[in-house]
Amino acid sequence: MADLDGEFEPVLVGFFCNWCTATAADLAGTTRLQYPPNIRPIRTMCSSSVDPVYILKALLRGADGVFIGGCVPGDCHYVSGNFKERRRIAAFKTILDTLGLEHERIWLRWISAAEGQKFAATMREFTAKMKELGPSPFKKGWSI
Ligand code: FES
Repeated sequence: MADLDGEFEPVLVGFFCNWCTATAADLAGTTRLQYPPNIRPIRTMCSSSVDPVYILKALLRGADGVFIGGCVPGDCHYVSGNFKERRRIAAFKTILDTLGLEHERIWLRWISAAEGQKFAATMREFTAKMKELGPSPFKKGWSI
C-alpha cells in the first residue's frame, strides 16, 4: 500500500494482550500520544492465545509485519503464557526463514498497562522497521 506521496505504507497487524499491551494502547490514545496509524489492533486474552497459524494467515492475507504484545515476564495473568509464546515465536521464526520471509517481520514485545509512552515509541519503531524492509515477499504480484 502507498500513501498519497507514493511512499510505501506497510500493512501491520497487532495482537495485543488484553491485560497489558491493549491497555497501554488505550493509555497512549487517551493521553494523545502520536504513532503511525498502520497497525490494525486485535485484542487477545493473552499473548499465548496467538497461534502461529494466525500470524501466517495475516501474512498470507497481505500483512507486511505482525506484532505480538504481551505482559512483562512474571506478570502474565495466566502464569506462564508469555514464556510459552516466546518459545513458540522463536520456533516459528525459524520456519519463516526457511520460507524465505524475514523473521524480523514478527515482533514479540512486553509492554505493561502503564507504558503508554513505550507503546507509542514501539509502534513508531516497528512501523519504521517494516518500511525499511519493504513489502512482504508474500505480496509479490498481488494488488492490495
Ligand atoms: Fe498478558 Fe498472558 S495475560 S501475556
